Amino acid sequence: MSRVALVTGGSRGIGAGISKALKESGYSVAANYAGNDEAAAAFTKETGIPTFKWSVADYDACVEGIKKVEAELGPVEILVNNAGITRDAPFHKMTPEQWREVIDTNLTGVFNMTHPIWPGMRERKFGRVITISSINGQKGQFAQVNYAASKAGDLGVTRSLAQEGARFGITANAICPGYIATDMVMAVPEKVREGIIAQIPAGRLGEVHEIARCAVFLASDDAGFINGSTISANGAQYFS
Ligand code: CAA
Repeated sequence: MSRVALVTGGSRGIGAGISKALKESGYSVAANYAGNDEAAAAFTKETGIPTFKWSVADYDACVEGIKKVEAELGPVEILVNNAGITRDAPFHKMTPEQWREVIDTNLTGVFNMTHPIWPGMRERKFGRVITISSINGQKGQFAQVNYAASKAGDLGVTRSLAQEGARFGITANAICPGYIATDMVMAVPEKVREGIIAQIPAGRLGEVHEIARCAVFLASDDAGFINGSTISANGAQYFS
C-alpha cells in the first residue's frame, strides 16, 4: 500500500507542485485548499488528486477535514504544511487584522494540522512533517513583520517537533524557499520584484519543481535520520 500524503494549500503554487511530485513518486495524495474552488476543481481534473476544502486557521475544521481524508485514503503518514498567505504592509501601516490573519494561517495553521495527526504517527511509529517556511522567516523582510514572524515560528515548531518525534520514527523538517515564480511572488509590484531578482545571485526566480523535489526527498523512508533540519532553496540569496 502506498503511503498517504496530505498537502495543505496543495492545489496551487508550491503546494500543487508538491502534490504532483509526491503522486509521481508513488504516494497516495490528498490536497487541502481554503478558498479557490475553481482552481481546486481544475487541479483535480488535471491530476486526479482529490481536493478537500477547509481553512487551516480553524482547528475544528482541521480535525473534521483530516477525518474525511483518512476515511477516503487511510492514515496520513506524510503531512506537508504548505498553506500560507501574505498581507504585506510596512509596520507602521500594518493592522492588527493583517497580523492575525497571517499568524493564524501560517503559524497556528501548522499547529492545527499537525496536532490531530501527531498521535497516529506516534502510534504507527512513522511520520513525516514537512513545513514550508521561507527565506523571509530566516532573514526578515521589509513590509513582512507578520509573515517573517510566522515563518520564523514555523522553524521553532519544526525543531521542537523533531526532538519530540524522533524516538517514534517521526521526522519534522522545514524547507525555506527563496523567491519562487508563483502567484504570491507575482503579486508583488513589478518594480519591487525586479529589485528582488537583482538580489538573487542565480539571477532568476526559483521554480516550483525545485521546491517540490526537496519535499519528495524529505518524505522518503531513507530521509529518516534528517530531523529538525532546514533545506534552503533560494538561488544563493541568503545563508543561515
Ligand atoms: N527596503 C527598503 N525600503 C523599501 C523596500 C525595501 N525592500 N520596499 C519598499 N521600500 C520603501 C519604498 O521605497 C517607499 O519609500 P518612500 O516612502 O521613501 O518612497 C516605502 O518603503 C514604501 O512606502 P509606501 O507607503 O509606498 O508603501 P505601501 O503602503 O504602498 O506598501 C509594499 C508597499 C507593501 C511595501 C510593497 O512595496 C510590497 O509589496 N513590497 C514587497 C514586499 C515583499 O517583498 N514581499 C514578499 C512577498 S513574496 C513572499 O512572501 C514569498 C516568500 O516567502 C519569499
